Amino acid sequence: MLKIEKSSEMVGFAAAAMVAKQLIKKPDSVIALPTGATPISMYETIVKFVKYGIISIEKAQLFNLDEYVGLTREDPMSFAYYMEKHLLSRIERVQHNIPATDTKDPEREASDYEEKIEKAGGFDLCLLGIGIDGHIGFNEPGTPFSSITHVAHLHPSTIERNSKEFGRGRIVPDIAITVGIKTIMKSRHIVLMATGVEKSSILKESLFGEITSDVPASVLQLHPNLTILVDKECAAKVISNASEFHRMNL
Ligand code: GLP
Repeated sequence: MLKIEKSSEMVGFAAAAMVAKQLIKKPDSVIALPTGATPISMYETIVKFVKYGIISIEKAQLFNLDEYVGLTREDPMSFAYYMEKHLLSRIERVQHNIPATDTKDPEREASDYEEKIEKAGGFDLCLLGIGIDGHIGFNEPGTPFSSITHVAHLHPSTIERNSKEFGRGRIVPDIAITVGIKTIMKSRHIVLMATGVEKSSILKESLFGEITSDVPASVLQLHPNLTILVDKECAAKVISNASEFHRMNL
């Protein structure tokens, strides 16, 4: 299902509403979470939902999708820091997992993380953003669809884009640990968020193009329970004519 929202904030609100729905149905849900600019408004809304007593996350098990290798948890560029800032420090105690950032044995950390996800029963809900090269989590172009949690080597375009966030004088790590594509695809429900015109071409290619590991997000076409949340800016190019609207039952 494709849902077009008025603004990027509304995309975040709609994603948070899906998290809420999932937690009301199953308070001990296992939920996979993304980072990046796109989901910030989702986290803001989740914090509000918790504060107003609409939902409780206490019983849920949260798993972040990925983390850079080589950064400490305290590093403002680590995803652990991002999660503290946008969610964890602002709500009740919660069971939160993220691959260790400063591990000496990333391969081992990746396989332990996969085991933890499996022990938890896999993801009930997996929230995703999308990279401009079509990556999901840090599954870069060329990652096999059969991949489980693994050590990923980042694509030059990802490093270049992320270097803007790291700022001058800081080297972007070129290695990360990411939940794999197979693990993501086993999720009972996947919600993909994409906002802004910058993401529209890759989203279009992912949704309507060939299903290929060159465009990792294209695998999502095979998922039986996928929700795509986009803002108007992103949707404009994705659905470029009326027949596509019609075809997608919009
Ligand atoms: C990052 C993360 C992804 C995220 C993507 C998009 O590299 N590893 O999980 O979905 O890039 O980020 P943004 O929302 O900032 O465009």
